[in-house]
Amino acid sequence: MKQICVVGVGYVGLVTGACFSDLGNRVIALDVNEQRIENLKKGIMPIYEPGLEELVRRNVKAGRLSFTTDYAEALQGTEFVFIAVGTPSGVNGEADLQYVASAAESIARNMSAPLIIINKSTVPIGTGDWVADIVKRAQPRPIDFSVVSCPEFLREGSAIGDFMNPHRTVIGSFDREAANKVAQLHLPLRAPIVITDLRTAEMIKYASNAFLATKISFINEIAEICEAYGADVKEVAAGMGYDARIGRHFLDAGLGWGGSCFPKDVKALAYMAEEKGLNPRILHSVMQVNYDRRRDVVKWTESLLGGLRGKTIALFGLAFKPNTDDMRDAPSIDIAQALTAAGATVRAYDPVAMDAARVILPAVQMCSDPYEAATGADAVIVVTEWNEFKQLDLEKLKALLKTPIVMDARNIYEPARMREMGFQYRAIGR
Ligand code: UDX
Ligand code: UDX
Repeated sequence: MKQICVVGVGYVGLVTGACFSDLGNRVIALDVNEQRIENLKKGIMPIYEPGLEELVRRNVKAGRLSFTTDYAEALQGTEFVFIAVGTPSGVNGEADLQYVASAAESIARNMSAPLIIINKSTVPIGTGDWVADIVKRAQPRPIDFSVVSCPEFLREGSAIGDFMNPHRTVIGSFDREAANKVAQLHLPLRAPIVITDLRTAEMIKYASNAFLATKISFINEIAEICEAYGADVKEVAAGMGYDARIGRHFLDAGLGWGGSCFPKDVKALAYMAEEKGLNPRILHSVMQVNYDRRRDVVKWTESLLGGLRGKTIALFGLAFKPNTDDMRDAPSIDIAQALTAAGATVRAYDPVAMDAARVILPAVQMCSDPYEAATGADAVIVVTEWNEFKQLDLEKLKALLKTPIVMDARNIYEPARMREMGFQYRAIGR
C-alpha cells in the first residue's frame, strides 16, 4: 500500500489513479481544472469510459481515492507522483509540453520529501531529462527526486481492462532503485515488466503507437487494391491474421484512425525524426493514407448520390471510435464539414458523443436515434462502428430513407445481404 498522487484527471490520469486505488494504494488525484475536481467530488465523471464511474465511486467510498486542486496537500506523505496531463500537438506536429512543464514546476515547489516523478503522459524522447532540469531549477531548496518514464498503453473504451491486464509494463529511468520501486507498484498486475533507460522507454511508446497506426494504414491501402481487383479485404485480413507474426488485431479497414493518440504520436515521431535531419518516409505515408480515407468516403458518397448539394445525409456515429465520447480528431468532423461545405444537410446520431460533438459541429442536426437521423435522408454514412448499429432493423431503415443508399465506412454490414435487400451499398475494400 503506497501513497500516490496523479496529476491530471483526463482519460489517462483518472483511469490510472482509480485503478491504482483499486489495487489498494492511497491515491490523491489532482487537477488544475476546478470544475472537474468539484464534479468528481460529487461523483460526476469528466469523461465517458465504461466502468469508470463505478470504479471511482467504490474507491472514494473506501477512502482510497480523493480529489484536490492543491499540490501541497496532494504531495504530503506521497512517494510517487504521476504526470498525466495533456500533451497535445503543436503547430508543426511537435508535442506541446507546456502542461508537463507547469505540472513539474508545481510539483517542485510543493514537494516536502523525496519523490519519484513518473511521466505517464506520452512525451517526446528526452523529456525525462528535461523534466528533471525543470524540477531542479524550480525547487526552493534541493530535495531528492528521480524521474521515471512509465508510458500508458490504454485504449479509450477499454482503458480499465487495459490497465488491469497490460501486455507489458514499461519503466525507464537512470535510477535503478527508483525504477524498481515503480516496478513494485505494478507487480499486482502480473504482467512482464520491461526496465530500461528513460529515452528507450519513451521511444517504446512512440514506436508502438506508430506501428499500430501503420498497420491500419497498411490494411487501408490493401483495401484500395482489393477494391480494384474484386477481392474482399475483410477476408484478406482474416487470412493474414492467422500468421502469428502479423496477428489479427488492427487490420480492420475503414475510415482509419483518429483520437488523441495516434494522430499526435505519429506526427510527433515524424517531427522528432526531422529535427535530427532524418526523413521519416513511412510515417508520412502512414498519415497520408489515413487522412485520404476521410476525403475518399465523402467522394464515394457523392458518386453514390450523384452530387451532394441539397441532399440530406445521416451520419451513424460521431466519436472517433466506439465506447467513448472522445471527439479528438474524429473522422466525423472532417466528413461533416466537407458535406456541409458541399451544400448538404447533415444529421447525426451517436450514443454518447453528441454533447461533445455539438460544440464542434454546430451545423449538424443531432438526433435521438439512428432511425430519426435516417428519416427522409438521401443516404447514411456509417462513421463509427457502435454495436447498436450492427443490429439495426434494416427493413425499417430502408423504408425511412428517401433513397436506400448506405456508405458503410466501417464495414459493419454484409454486402450480399444489403444488395439483396435493395440497398445501394458501398463498403471499404469489399
Ligand atoms: C492525453 C493524451 O490523450 C495521452 O496520449 C497522453 O499520454 C496524455 O495526455 P488525456 O488524459 O487524454 O491524455 O488528456 P486530457 O483528457 O486532455 O486530460 C488532461 C488533464 O490534465 C485535464 O483534466 C487538465 O485539466 C489537466 N491539467 C492540464 C492539469 O491538471 N494541469 C495542467 O497544468 C494542465
Ligand atoms: C491507442 C492505442 O491502442 C493505445 O495502446 C494507446 O495507449 C493510445 O492510442 P486509442 O487511440 O484509444 O488507443 O484507440 P484504438 O482502439 O487503438 O483505435 C485507434 C484508432 O484506430 C481509432 O480511430 C480506431 O477507429 C482506429 N482503428 C483501430 C482502425 O481504423 N482499425 C483497426 O483495426 C483498429
